[in-house]
Amino acid sequence: MTTSSSERGVSLGMPQPPAPDYPADVRRRLERDAREIIARYPDSRSALLPLLHLVQSEEGYVSRTGMRFCAEMLGLTTAEVTAVATFYTMYRRRPGGDYQVGVCTNTLCAVMGGDAIFEALQEHLGVGNGETTDDGKVTLEHIECNAACDYAPVVMVNWEFFDNQTPADAKRLVDDLRAGRPVTPTRGAPLCTFRETARILAGFPDERPGAVEAGGSAGPASLVGLRLAKGEAAPARVVHPREGGPHGEPHDGPVHQPSPTEHLSSHDAPQDTSASDPAHPAGPVAEEGE
Ligand code: FES
Repeated sequence: MTTSSSERGVSLGMPQPPAPDYPADVRRRLERDAREIIARYPDSRSALLPLLHLVQSEEGYVSRTGMRFCAEMLGLTTAEVTAVATFYTMYRRRPGGDYQVGVCTNTLCAVMGGDAIFEALQEHLGVGNGETTDDGKVTLEHIECNAACDYAPVVMVNWEFFDNQTPADAKRLVDDLRAGRPVTPTRGAPLCTFRETARILAGFPDERPGAVEAGGSAGPASLVGLRLAKGEAAPARVVHPREGGPHGEPHDGPVHQPSPTEHLSSHDAPQDTSASDPAHPAGPVAEEGE
């Protein structure tokens, strides 16, 4: 006896009708922007990533209409555009909030409190992973390592870093975002909305006053290895107590407030490496291939 695909719960997937086009005025505006982006590249298809950010800045996500637009502008198939848009997690595939709040729950951040932060935000916001608050302000998601492990646990909002977070910090952060209060990340200029961020990522100038000067690059703790490799002296080990305990509980005693130039990780690894710990010298270094 055979069973049909529907009986097995398998969808064979009917072909979808072509995506609708943008309204004429939107299309004209986007074409102008897209041509500017494409002109930066010797091969037009290289412009696909910024073009996906451009369409994301229009609708807040990469819609089927946006993918059709990219394909038409670049002479690609929609299948080729879809393959790229679905590969990179910075492209949203459905509408989301003004602020994409990502909690790093990769191994290091998770054990340093990332899991506790994610749980606290789920409960505080009443949404799960990939869901958006009713007011359309905040979309919450798990994110993978953002190469800022020395500031774990890290929260990102519209790809800007909030270092050394606690559940209490993160709850305050989303409350501020939902209330429309200005929010400044640990490194960089005050936040703008997801759509505004997408336009900057498409390669258009960041016109917010002071935004470029504010920087937003890697913090000193992330650059220690680079400085050592360049022959500079190792910085003094600095341990900053957090504002609260790992679960946001208040500290006993005064809290050290680091100056901007002193902003090292709050949990720099103790320097008990072979170089700094004579009791545990390194063995002979093996050559590659030995
Ligand atoms: S594990 Fe979270 S930034 Fe690396």
